[in-house]
Amino acid sequence: MTGKISEDIKHEIERLVKELNYHCYRYYVLDSPVISDEEYDRLYLKLKGLEEKYDYVLPDSPTHRVGAPPLDKFEKVRHKEPMLSLDNAFSYDELKEFDKRIKRLIGTQDEIEYTVEPKYDGLAIELTYRDGLLYKASTRGDGYEGEDVTPNIKTIKSVPLKIEGVSIPEEIDIRGEIYMDIEDFERLNREREQKGEPLFANPRNAAAGSVRQLDSSITASRRLHLACYGIGAVKGIEFKKQLELIKWLEKARFPIPAIVKQVKGIDGVIEIVKEIEEKRRIFPFETDGAVVKVDDFSLQHFLGIKTREPRWAIAYKFPAHQGTTRIKEILPSVGRTGVITPVAILEPVRIGGVTVSRSTLHNWDEIQRKDIRVGDFVVVERAGEVIPHVVSVIKEKRTGKEKTFPIPEKCPVCGSRVMREEGEVAVRCIGLDCPAQVQERIRHFASRDAMDIEGLGEKNVELLYSKGLIGHFIDIYRIKKDDLLQLPRFAEKSAQNLIDAIEKSKHTTLSKFLYALGIVHVGEYAAKLLSENFERLEDLYNVKPETIIQIRQMGKKIAHSVSDFFNDHENLRTIERLKTLGLKITNPDFKGKRKEKRPLDGLTFVITGSLPEPRKDVEDMIENLGGHTSSSVSRSTDYLVVGEEPGSKLQKARSLGVKTVSYEELLKIIEQRKK
Ligand code: IVH
Repeated sequence: MTGKISEDIKHEIERLVKELNYHCYRYYVLDSPVISDEEYDRLYLKLKGLEEKYDYVLPDSPTHRVGAPPLDKFEKVRHKEPMLSLDNAFSYDELKEFDKRIKRLIGTQDEIEYTVEPKYDGLAIELTYRDGLLYKASTRGDGYEGEDVTPNIKTIKSVPLKIEGVSIPEEIDIRGEIYMDIEDFERLNREREQKGEPLFANPRNAAAGSVRQLDSSITASRRLHLACYGIGAVKGIEFKKQLELIKWLEKARFPIPAIVKQVKGIDGVIEIVKEIEEKRRIFPFETDGAVVKVDDFSLQHFLGIKTREPRWAIAYKFPAHQGTTRIKEILPSVGRTGVITPVAILEPVRIGGVTVSRSTLHNWDEIQRKDIRVGDFVVVERAGEVIPHVVSVIKEKRTGKEKTFPIPEKCPVCGSRVMREEGEVAVRCIGLDCPAQVQERIRHFASRDAMDIEGLGEKNVELLYSKGLIGHFIDIYRIKKDDLLQLPRFAEKSAQNLIDAIEKSKHTTLSKFLYALGIVHVGEYAAKLLSENFERLEDLYNVKPETIIQIRQMGKKIAHSVSDFFNDHENLRTIERLKTLGLKITNPDFKGKRKEKRPLDGLTFVITGSLPEPRKDVEDMIENLGGHTSSSVSRSTDYLVVGEEPGSKLQKARSLGVKTVSYEELLKIIEQRKK
């Protein structure tokens, strides 16, 4: 039985749809939810209940995303404008050729304005919106005719069911790529392996296979994403430029490519292509290139199409150069986090103009999976700046003399036990003082993209370490010129140069410093993202993983690693000591709102004993007011807050001369500092 519907109920349903769609957008497009999953589910169930009771379902209701009955076959859809493919460029010279050709065709010497985006490796899709509502979703097919996959595409939460936030065009065909993140692809394959189902060869096939399902509940169970980069036919709106379109799409709540940059001239294009090639390593999805487009739509129109590809765009494919050679030896190499990486020593081979004589084998799972043995002939690939890796073994060339390479039982450098954590492929040396780890950490700290200390490369780190001058990167700032002069490799000038370089490095930026710290999983890009979101280093102290996950593009692994690092008392002490040694950090990357000064800014508190309020609440209060809380007392503790029946922390605080206050005194301090 359906109930009679009043205007009030209609409004309530409309409000719920709007609200749920907004939260869906926050979660799946912006990656920045403002309500909890439970709250979302509660609203969703409320809406579903009302819809069923009153039989009133709006066309953009999120309840439409699931539950469509399975199809017998896909209907054909004709694209109003053909969905084209792209010409490829395999070198920067070919990009320059492309630019010259365009200038020639237009008859200009002036620099052309381009936009550059990553090339998503997925499945092209066309989304047709009529009067703002998603009406049809179709695959590319042969470019002219595709398949109607609307129920499947509706299950993808980042696909808007309704255009909002902009004036609504009568009709618009929006184009983009449906893709799967690498991590989700791997998880899916693991699940399929367990169930004995055939595996997908790559994320692209997995995305395509997930969309081309007659039963949309299967698509719904796969984690798919959308990135929109273009349009087909439109009615009722006009765009002049690609970047303008992208901005409109963004405003209309469509997910857009992770990078879209506009630039004049091909040299600038090449710079952005390089940037994308650099960043693709930390993208959660696969990109095999960058798409370069003439920005101006009227110029695009003028340039037109040659058979199937537009003349106004080109896909630059990242080089993946390969060669074959033989593995002479496999050596375990210990990195700064203790991870032992097997490295193949190769008979030197030239690949893409560079001689390659070693190649990472990543880990022992990889060795096993590819069945790599010492003496094997292998295909080696060198892509961009990345360390070369072994693609496959040429088994036909085996003689039977090849030898397998087992996991070492002990660290090859310090002899400590070797450990492998559950669910992790990495094999680690557990020796905290392992010289290989220590030296690697110092070398990394001093490297160019980190603290940039010229003259402190691998050789000098090894020398200073072996002479006992440095045992930790903090010791770099304690080196005296006289110490250096005692060493064989240093004379007056070189010693002074190193001292100057060390001094200079004390003024650095937050992103360089975060990278220098060598936090597991935090590369340069992650460090930059952190700096864009955290104004000061101290804002990261005791940070929770949930706070970091809220940053777009930050995954769980990085979040936990960063949180673990900044919740470790020793680490915070090291940082504080670096500050006393003169480290000065600025943060030009910060993009958030500059925080107002807060009363407890820069102060560290430790609590002992029971307080009149729950400890968690007191800690939250301190942190909300800008202070940091820590679980143990050290010299860098500013106040120990003492409750009833205090523990041993009180004694420790007294012996270190740390100030102790009661809860009431803490409240007074806050009041005073507010003034
Ligand atoms: S523009 C005429 N931009 O690459 C230009 N395509 O090889 C149409 N693709 O079918 C495409 N990322 O599926 C464009 N940022 C991007 C892209 C992109 C991936 C795919 C798209 C297209 C194929 C062409």
